[in-house]
Parts: sequence; C-alpha cells; structure tokens
Amino acid sequence: MGLLFKHGTIITASEMIKADLLVEGETISLIGANLPANGHEVVDCTDKYLLPGGIDVHTHLELPFGGTLSNDDFDVGHMAAAFGGTTCHIDFVIQPVGGSLHDGLATWRKKAEVAQIDYGFHMAVTDLTDAVLEEIPTMVDEGITSLKLFMAYKNVFQVDDATLFKAMQVAAANGMIVMVHAENGDVEATLTPELLAAGKTEPKHHADSRPPEIEGEATNRAVVMSGLTGCPLYVVHMTCEPAIAALSRGRELGYPVMGETCVQYFFLTVEDHLAAPGFEGAKYVCSPPIRTTHDHEVLWRAIRNGTLQIVSTDHCDFWFDGGKGPWQEWQAQNGSATWANYERQDPSYRRPGKELGKGNFAKIPNGMPGIEDRMMVIWEAGVNQGRISPMRFVELNCTNPAKIFGMYPKKGTLAIGSDADIVVWDPNQEHIMSVETTHMRIDYNVYEGMAVKGKPTQVYQRGKKLVDGAQWLGSNGSGQFVRRQPHAPVL
Ligand code: URP
Ligand code: ZN
Ligand code: ZN
Repeated sequence: MGLLFKHGTIITASEMIKADLLVEGETISLIGANLPANGHEVVDCTDKYLLPGGIDVHTHLELPFGGTLSNDDFDVGHMAAAFGGTTCHIDFVIQPVGGSLHDGLATWRKKAEVAQIDYGFHMAVTDLTDAVLEEIPTMVDEGITSLKLFMAYKNVFQVDDATLFKAMQVAAANGMIVMVHAENGDVEATLTPELLAAGKTEPKHHADSRPPEIEGEATNRAVVMSGLTGCPLYVVHMTCEPAIAALSRGRELGYPVMGETCVQYFFLTVEDHLAAPGFEGAKYVCSPPIRTTHDHEVLWRAIRNGTLQIVSTDHCDFWFDGGKGPWQEWQAQNGSATWANYERQDPSYRRPGKELGKGNFAKIPNGMPGIEDRMMVIWEAGVNQGRISPMRFVELNCTNPAKIFGMYPKKGTLAIGSDADIVVWDPNQEHIMSVETTHMRIDYNVYEGMAVKGKPTQVYQRGKKLVDGAQWLGSNGSGQFVRRQPHAPVL
C-alpha cells in the first residue's frame, strides 16, 4: 500500500501544478491528475502546497567553537529542522588539529549516530599537509564532494592563500567544489586588539572588527583563484555589497563561482540588533556580521537576479544565558563531547554560551540559531511580500542546494524516482516566530514576534511521517547519510 497525496498543489523549481502524488516505499512513484485511491493511504492536501523537503547546506551541529560547543546536535537539531520543513542538511566536518580528514570524519559520524533526518558532510580543511593533499580525493569515495576553507578565524581555522589555491587545484582535478568563509582574517586580527585596547568591548564592535570591505576583498581573492584553477567555488554566508559585487564580476567573467546568503542577513542590522542596549547584542554576533538595511536590499536583488543561488542558515546556536550548573566539573570529567547528556540530566543546566564574551566582544561565541526558522521567514518575506515566486522559493531552499551539492534528483525536487521528502505546506496558517514555540535548544529567537503566514503541517522523509502538526514522529538513527556525487553543475 502506498501513500497518496491528493488535491494539493505541487510546487517545484519550475512549475506549480494541481496534481496528486503517489509514494511507494521511500520514493515517489507517480504524479498525475485524479490518481485512483486503489487502497492507498490518502493524505488530503486540499488548499495545501506540496514542496520538496528543504535542504540546509550550511549548518554546524555540536561544533566545538569559541570556547564551548554549539547547542543543537543531530538529535534535537534534526527535530527542529523538520518542524521547519527541512529534511536534509549538510554539516561541516572539521579536520582536527594535527589530525587527518578521516579523523574528523570519524568524529562527525559518531555525532550523527542519533540522526533523525538525512544529512551529508562537507570537509573543512584546516591544515593542508602533503598527507592531507593526498587524502582529499578519497573524500569523493566517502560521498563527500565539497571542501571548505576558512579565510578568517586566524589561529583557529584560517588557511593562507597558498593553501586555498592548492586545495582548489586538487578539488578541481577530482570533481569537487570548494567553499570559502570569505573575510580577511589578518585584517580582523589586527583590528580586534586595537578596538579592545580603545575600550570598545561591547558586542556592536564585533562589526567594526569585520567591516564589509574585508568580506569583499576576500571574496574577490577566492573568485580570482577559482578563475585561475577552474575550480567551482561556493562562497558561504555572503552579507554585503562589496562581496556581492566581487561574485557578480566573477560570474560576468564566466568563472565557475556561486554563493549563498543566510536568512539572518535579510533581517537584522547592526543598528537595531548588534547595538541593542547592554549585552543583548551578543545574541546577534556572527561572522561575517549582520549589516544594514541597504545590504538587505542588495541581497534580495542578488537572490532575484541569480547572483546568489541558495539561502541557508549557518545554524550554530549558543545559549544567550549559558554556563549554568556544574559545567566546569562536568567538562573536566567528561570533556565537552557529551554536553547533550549534561543538559538532559537537568534541564536547568546549560553549557557555556554568549555570556563568555561579557566585557570582550572577541570572546562571544560566533553564530546564531535558524535551522527551524528558515523556510517560514523566507516564505513570509520572500513569497508573501512579493519579492520571489513560490517556484524561486523552492529553487533557493530545496532544488539548488541539491543540484550544487550533488544530490539531485534524489533530493531537492518532487519527481518520479526522487526520495519522498515531502512538506505539506499550509499557506494560510499563521504563526508568530518565538522562543516559546521553537524546537531548537536555545533561549532566544532572532525573529521573536515576527508574524508569518505559511507553515509546514506534515513533513515526510522518504515516505515516513516525521511531523504531524505539533507531534514529532521521528526516531533516532533513522536519518541517513547522503552520499553526494562529484562533478555537480555550476548554476
Ligand atoms: O558566526 C558564525 N558564522 N559561526 C559559525 C562558523 C562560521 O563561520 O560559519
Ligand atoms: Zn563562516
Ligand atoms: Zn558556518
């Protein structure tokens, strides 16, 4: 017996059609008008849209960073993602200090044992030794076809230009794509101590340490290297005009360069959020920083004219008010690898979070929540407010992520043979974004109070229902690793 979605409107990147959709096993077997029930279980989708499951290609679950560990893991983070309509994500494995890519992969595979939705991995290279250069092609055999290099976070993740260039040469030769965090980390590392020495310690000065120019400069550097090596480049979390201009110029020159922005960069500003009174601005500290309303418009234009191909989240959440309970003793005994257990033991316990940077913006863990919010807030600001069509919404959140990262057409669309990752989307359901209703493990919501219309009501992964209204039906271990293909297209 199959699962028959009847009377809905199917939205893909290219069309919006009234049709029924049949799922048999884990995949879509038929799409057509008035399909007969034939004993199948019928899901009534009257007045609803059917969307492919969202794919978030930029997440950091349980990332050791900024002196702590990001809150959401492959358990809670996955549940939150699915409640927001995301059924697949790609997380960043980090090559450990002094270790190999496979060492990093082993660590992330362990984290993912509790997976509730499907996931893939990017490989972040932090130390390109000769051994690691040789190891890169083996990542393709592991189903990992994207490398990430950080041009920022000096003395933590940052690599130099020679490393980035060499990584691109090897990636190009093996059908891989290179992703960069594009900010000039040397300039940031010079500005930060100067600001602190001048007594500029509040959260808002994080933005002064990372001006738009250093994002534009680093983006241009990576774009030029892509042009020279022929390596497909994907610039993550783009925020501002100089960076978009650099990407746009590369595309005009015919270089294989692409980019994303993240939800928060359409909504938040230094003035209203980062410079909020007291320590409140720490909630919004991320790198690159949030910018201005002018940059919001630049990003919407880039989304509309195709300079940017994807909207992701860079989900990397930290408690605003963390460090509760005997965490120091716990950490000494257990390390930080079992923080989820620490918080499960007593819900009032919290690992360290943003409060680590009180009195010193450079010590605020960088990152914010968003994995659950992405599709709802982009639907509201994008589709409801007339900036993008429902088809472009699907393209940005589902289809392009699958295409660019080698998962299409298994993921990212509703087509015969594709995985039955299906979101039943009610365009009339109203919702207020809030920490009170979120499923993310977090004590604030960056869109608090925002009214949205349009929300997932049921969410399916490979034909299995994960979300039914407010009910969670997923289970640990049912999320599968997605092996991604090399030589994905440049869009
Ligand atoms: O502030 C951010 N973006 N935190 C996560 C790590 C990164 O740079 O993507
Ligand atoms: Zn980054
Ligand atoms: Zn990130």
